[in-house]
Amino acid sequence: MSALQAIRYTRGKLEVLDQLRLPHEFHYDNVANRAEAWDSIYTMRVRGAPAIAIVASLGLAVELHSGTVTGNTPVEVIAGIDEALDYLKTSRPTAVDLTNAINQLKAKIRAGGASATKETIVAAFIEEAEAIFEKDLKTNQAIGEYGAEWLRAQAGASSEKQVSVLTHCNTGSLATSGHGTALGIIRTLRDKSLLKHAFCTETRPYNQGSRLTAFELVYEKIPSTLITDSMAASLFRTRGAEMNIAAVIVGADRVVRNGDTANKIGTYQLAVLAKQHGIKFIVAAPTTSIDLVTETGDGIKIEERKKEELTQVTGAVIKADGTVDESSKVRVATADQRIDVWNPAFDVTPAAFIDAVVTEKGAVEKGPNGVFDFSKIMPERW
Ligand code: MRU
Repeated sequence: MSALQAIRYTRGKLEVLDQLRLPHEFHYDNVANRAEAWDSIYTMRVRGAPAIAIVASLGLAVELHSGTVTGNTPVEVIAGIDEALDYLKTSRPTAVDLTNAINQLKAKIRAGGASATKETIVAAFIEEAEAIFEKDLKTNQAIGEYGAEWLRAQAGASSEKQVSVLTHCNTGSLATSGHGTALGIIRTLRDKSLLKHAFCTETRPYNQGSRLTAFELVYEKIPSTLITDSMAASLFRTRGAEMNIAAVIVGADRVVRNGDTANKIGTYQLAVLAKQHGIKFIVAAPTTSIDLVTETGDGIKIEERKKEELTQVTGAVIKADGTVDESSKVRVATADQRIDVWNPAFDVTPAAFIDAVVTEKGAVEKGPNGVFDFSKIMPERW
């Protein structure tokens, strides 16, 4: 079984899996330039904080590799790349990975100093974009190891070594270069025979849980069950003990300096429920999702999306063999189309509700002051 890949790249060619068509259809879009990368991210054909940063970086790398470079002098070339990066940053506002990647790329194209030429600047950009892509997989595998170890340690002397967990949204191979963050921990738990069962939420309104995570869990043959977002409290109360539900594990779009975390809408209510039921709440995130500039969650800009995501779904005829008839696809109304709608894509979970932030550099817990201290794992950015 080959691993799921949201992003396929070789130098000069970028293909991005269209996640709007999943789980029924596998279609890769060719992304050849900044405009196509921007559109892919904005329309959420690719989504998930790390994947957004990778597609923006590689999309521009492909454009530059094709010879489309603005300017001739080093100063002009750097200004042209900066402009393209600033444009890509406008695609989606909440996930900080994109900003961090852009800052990294801007620093890299300036690193050649006075001896830089148009060619060396372009080459430096392409190599750095490729490094961002390649590093992400190793990062996720490390998060998986640290997260599984943290959970194993929590189980302590308990006779039952296998735990069940609940996850929200999609944080797997589809949201990253591979393995995933929160879903990466679930994969690693399974690989170490420490996983009893994984529950995933539907994740309304965009259904990343039912369309993408459920698909990944089935694809990987991980024992799993799908619930709607509104079933979590009942699940914890009625099946928490029987299933040994030990943790809610989610990803992050932005973890700020004190540990407050922006993630998919619905994350905060799961954190409140976890506390009520004595279940650990873990944020799994690469250090590229950590924003040390913003002090608290109040400073995070939350993206609001169009009302049709709540009031319509795409429907299609299911054929006798259980597959979908693609030609029958149609938008279906699920509400009166005149109703006013509020559709924030993310919410902020206060640090007080988070037991650990698991990164590729280790699991960070709160200090006695109730605040996360990332200085030990990120001294260079502190
Ligand atoms: O709107 P989305 O699908 O991009 O939101 C994704 C999430 O909220 C994920 O939890 C987060 O980006 C982490 S992905 C590893």
